[in-house]
Amino acid sequence: MKNIEPKKLCLANLPTPIQKVVFEGKSFLIKRDDFTGLETSGNKIRKLEYLLYKAKKEKADYVFTTGGEQSNHARTTAVSSASIGLKSKLFLWGKDSANADGNLFLDKIFGAELRFLSKAEFINSSKIMSDEEINFKKKNKKIFLIPEGGSSTLGIWGYINFIHELNSQLELKKLNGITAASGSGGTAAGMLIGLTLLGLKTKIFAVNVLYEKKIITEKIFTLVYDCIKEFNLKIKIDESLLEIVDGYSTEGYKNISADKLSVIKSFARSSGILLDPTYTGKAFNAYNDNFIGNKNLFVHTGGIFGAFNKRKNYLET
Ligand SMILES: Cc1ncc(COP(=O)(O)O)c(C=O)c1O
Repeated sequence: MKNIEPKKLCLANLPTPIQKVVFEGKSFLIKRDDFTGLETSGNKIRKLEYLLYKAKKEKADYVFTTGGEQSNHARTTAVSSASIGLKSKLFLWGKDSANADGNLFLDKIFGAELRFLSKAEFINSSKIMSDEEINFKKKNKKIFLIPEGGSSTLGIWGYINFIHELNSQLELKKLNGITAASGSGGTAAGMLIGLTLLGLKTKIFAVNVLYEKKIITEKIFTLVYDCIKEFNLKIKIDESLLEIVDGYSTEGYKNISADKLSVIKSFARSSGILLDPTYTGKAFNAYNDNFIGNKNLFVHTGGIFGAFNKRKNYLET
């Protein structure tokens, strides 16, 4: 890794712990990536360590990024940019609220500039950010653009490195699989490269919460092959090591069904671990139905602040 890994900042508390948990009589391991840091809890900070190193090196004034109005990635970008003296502007799919909660509340507290987008605009958010970059350039401001979820060929090094970290904590080859939520696909893409670099055959189960299956599959493999090319990695990918687990977000990305919430709550009450409504809660439902207790490790990728935005649903279930 030392010779091929790009440079990064050290913003996260690493390594994150691995915890043994029992749920409904089944014992399993959970990697607590929700413990990467308090305000920046979750998976995104791993990617931002690489991205913000580059932003600093390029002497950017502002970081632009995009996501939903409760985006954990956008919030992590706002917090971590503030921590290293950069300004941030977030392009968020959704609406502003005077009584902002969860991640949106934190975006505001940490001083991010916000622009709200319709769903149609969000699909075009890269172009919208590039256009805004031109306006900022006219004011002599240098912008560093980060795509949705921090999922670029550079950002996914966060999860290549995650696999090396995991391998130093346990005998990875003894695991059958790793299960994690998949949104923009960078976490799964990084893990697939990381496992391949180590010559391991552990399977990745990516629980799809946002895109159609075909689209997320394409996004992940595009990231994987572009990264291999850009960093000249001498590996061959076995595509069968990635399985997209679909059908666990049929209520929609921004919603969570009552039956899934009831699993989330019963898990919280038996383990002391809270899962979010958008990512980890859906991924855990998939894990509990299909993989729990079968030498398959669950990754808690964070996102707890999203639960506060859905307080009513959590309380009513
Ligand atoms: C809490 C949480 N878990 C998982 C994911 C999925 O990660 P990725 O976008 O890399 O697929 C995200 C972000 O999208 C997230 O915020």
